[in-house]
Amino acid sequence: MEPLLCVDGWGDYEIVGVLVRLEESVERKERESMKYYMAPMEGLTGYIYRNAYHRCFHPMDKYFTPFLSPKSNKGLSSRELNDILPEHNQGLFVVPQILTNRWEDFLGTAEILREYGYGEVNLNLGCPSGTVVSKKKGAGFLAVPEELNRFLEKVCSGLDTMGTELSVKTRLGNVSEDEFYGLMEIYNQYPLKELVVHPRIRSDYYKNVPRMKVFEYSMESASCPVCYSGDIFTAKDYRRLVKESPELRSVMLGRGLVANPGLREEVQGEGCLDKERFRTFHGLIYEGYRRIMSGDRNVLFKMKELWSLMIHMFYDEGSYAKKIKKAQRLEEYEAAVDLVLRDLELVRGGGFQPERH
Ligand SMILES: Cc1cc2nc3c(=O)[nH]c(=O)nc-3n(C[C@H](O)[C@H](O)[C@H](O)COP(=O)(O)O)c2cc1C
Repeated sequence: MEPLLCVDGWGDYEIVGVLVRLEESVERKERESMKYYMAPMEGLTGYIYRNAYHRCFHPMDKYFTPFLSPKSNKGLSSRELNDILPEHNQGLFVVPQILTNRWEDFLGTAEILREYGYGEVNLNLGCPSGTVVSKKKGAGFLAVPEELNRFLEKVCSGLDTMGTELSVKTRLGNVSEDEFYGLMEIYNQYPLKELVVHPRIRSDYYKNVPRMKVFEYSMESASCPVCYSGDIFTAKDYRRLVKESPELRSVMLGRGLVANPGLREEVQGEGCLDKERFRTFHGLIYEGYRRIMSGDRNVLFKMKELWSLMIHMFYDEGSYAKKIKKAQRLEEYEAAVDLVLRDLELVRGGGFQPERH
């Protein structure tokens, strides 16, 4: 990088050139220091998906598991156990996520995870689903901050003894973003490894737009590193985010990454998704589910859920997606996917498009 000096005799274009290079260098530095996480997504980002992603695309710095939901005095279910088994996650940096409001269950699960080698666990304080919230778990736990404070006190002291680190994934509140200011005071009392903020409130579900002013507040006031989660669907969205929050050092990608598994590469200027890699990636997931699931219907259900996001990367008026949705047998499904990959072009710079109401 040449010095940014206004030297006599330089034409304007030279100064502009230096400025452009300076901006590029800042952007490159920022991209290199940014950490990228795969969001926990129940039903979508389990170990079959994570491994296929890890093999085909620029690996993520961390992969958060969809939530484990401990039942009192019972271990993990076999589905949960399979998701966290080290042999199912080789070479991936995985952070298991736990959804509970009982500190005993949280610590019991963290203990099991410790035995499997996990030194960081994540607490889910964001799930908006009615059945979870009504039990004061997930985003519902945010509605009872005193209980949450007592829970964190017990959990942090237990984890400290175990030598396990805690990160938290939180929404801004249950019914109002104003709840976040009190929540932040609670979080700041504990030695959190990281605070992942999805700047919506529970009643937003996935609608409306992220509340960026309050997110900025979290960046300014948190005593631990903050990670951003929410609505990063294209490289353009990412660039806007880092422009608004230049201090940000980690970002979690969810629906945008499932729709476009090449998103991290696009963001980093490493090129765009291409059909051949997508075909390989799809094949790994499909074969993976066929290997571990009994019954075609279960495999089809899983794949169709993924396609509800992945179809956004293709120019489809609707008829191709419909064929995938209507497939009742694996052969029909395979034929429908072949048609997508034969006929449809990928949308350059495209990504997940939410319905906003
Ligand atoms: C289908 C689905 C499942 C999800 N499952 C979880 C989960 O298990 N744990 C969690 O903390 N968040 C979960 N989330 C929230 C995401 O991790 C993420 O915070 C949210 O989708 C916003 O980010 P995005 O706009 O990048 O998708 C889920 C979201 C969706 C759409």
